Amino acid sequence: MDSSATNQKTFSITTPIYYVNDVPHIGSAYTTIAADVVARFQRLQGKPVRMVTGTDEHGQKIQRTAEAAGRLPQEHCDLIAKEFESLWHQLNIQVDSFVRTTNPRHEAIVKEFFQRVWERGDIYLGQQQGWYCVSCEEFKEERDLLEGHRCPLHPNKEVEWRDEQNYFFRLSSYQGKLEQLYQDQPDFIQPESRRNEVLSFVSRGLQDFSISRVNLDWGIPVPPDPNHTIYVWFDALLAYITALLEPDQEATLANATAKWYPFNLHLIGKDILRFHAVYWPAMLMSAGLPLPDRVFGHGFLTKDGQKISKTLGNVIDPVDLVSRYGSDAVRYYFLKEIEFGRDGDFNETRFVNTLNADLANDLGNLLNRTLKMVQKYCGGHVPNVQAADIAMDDVLRSKGEHLGQQVIQAYDDLAFSQACEMIMSLVRAGNKYVDEQAPWTLFKQGKQVELEQVLYSVLESVRLAAYLLSPIVPTISNAVYQQLGFAIDFNHAAVGQSDDFSAQIRWGFLSAMQALGEAAPVFQRVELP
Ligand code: MSP
Repeated sequence: MDSSATNQKTFSITTPIYYVNDVPHIGSAYTTIAADVVARFQRLQGKPVRMVTGTDEHGQKIQRTAEAAGRLPQEHCDLIAKEFESLWHQLNIQVDSFVRTTNPRHEAIVKEFFQRVWERGDIYLGQQQGWYCVSCEEFKEERDLLEGHRCPLHPNKEVEWRDEQNYFFRLSSYQGKLEQLYQDQPDFIQPESRRNEVLSFVSRGLQDFSISRVNLDWGIPVPPDPNHTIYVWFDALLAYITALLEPDQEATLANATAKWYPFNLHLIGKDILRFHAVYWPAMLMSAGLPLPDRVFGHGFLTKDGQKISKTLGNVIDPVDLVSRYGSDAVRYYFLKEIEFGRDGDFNETRFVNTLNADLANDLGNLLNRTLKMVQKYCGGHVPNVQAADIAMDDVLRSKGEHLGQQVIQAYDDLAFSQACEMIMSLVRAGNKYVDEQAPWTLFKQGKQVELEQVLYSVLESVRLAAYLLSPIVPTISNAVYQQLGFAIDFNHAAVGQSDDFSAQIRWGFLSAMQALGEAAPVFQRVELP
């Protein structure tokens, strides 16, 4: 998808609605950081953005967790939902809507939606027999289970046999329409590997799935039959829609879908792809609602090459990470070091090395030493140079000229690590340029014009790098901009004006003679504990 070409007026994006069975883990932080970066990049372009996240609070898993903790379910949910909100705050995530599935407004949306699908004739009562994994909140095919009836995603837990009456959704009658969708909208599921998984799953034939549970109170009652509660996944997916309501609006589907709907992007992990790429569009088709533009399934994180799990005791606590290293550090590492869409690893030594090399040394030092030279050789302002006077084949100018467009493309493709790599390559070229051009020698030789051009080129390259990195490391970008004498706040939600954006992404934006701020390290080196 090329956001500059679609000319849409608004942009809406979601993270999954996280289970509150436990405090947030690094996987939820990863998706949410990525979603925030996309949202910030859209805001920078002047688009009104709605960034949605929230908590998935119903179902057996949550009910059991609360019981085990000796809490009432609602009390438990309130407690954990707060942890999520607080982590997003610490990670500098700009959430526009935090939705909770136990909110009564959500119940109203779910019931209205259920009613529509009911009237459409897509719901019927049937007998459900099968193996249920409470941790996944999903029925599993016998052939997909490990020995001893264990779920491959939760091998330390046994699945449970169920034989009960449930309401079913007629997924099977959407097979053709779904196949048509994947064909007409080839970008609907990304990346390609995930799309192929879905195509192959659907081609094996779709079965109706149960959307209600009996003997479970912790959920939303089925409107025509309150002995049943609505299946937690049917409920949770609809939270995306609830999240679009304004605070004072009546909770109706018409209101919720009036402004931000349909979604531009659902960001999810690869384990919940089927729900988003198969069940969800079919549910929306049944309710007569438009479909999202795209669903992107990212990979899984490992720690030091190993699966992250409580049993292995190698869980990474995002709260601990952000409190030790700061939000920009965490944001940068996960987006720069891991190709979005593929699995990736967290290793603390690599974490520290990457941050020191890229942010403290390459970017931070370049700005710092250049500012000091500018103070010394040119006074406290940007050198008196017009970008247009710098040779077209100047190393930094020629690299910087096309960078903006390339980075836009990378952000649009969610290729964050590529975006960082391209930006850092300009920064590294800046360091090499200073070493080669040796401004201190130019000064001694009295070559003031050349000297000022060299220093301008470097400052301008750092500025451009900071601007393009601002969705990822807003605090660092703020510091760089401040030292360059700008008054922009990249954390301000309305930072972008589209005209401003097109000017800012061009190499040469920095004005001659602009007064500079005080030079100070923009990123403190980090150390292993
Ligand atoms: N509640 C459902 C989502 C409902 S959306 C309508 C859910 N919640 S979850 O809290 O269990 O998972 C949230 C996300 O965390 C998923 O996208 C999942 O892929 C992601 N991750 C869980 N472990 C992960 C890693 N080790 N690495 C990366 N992401 C991981 O599923």
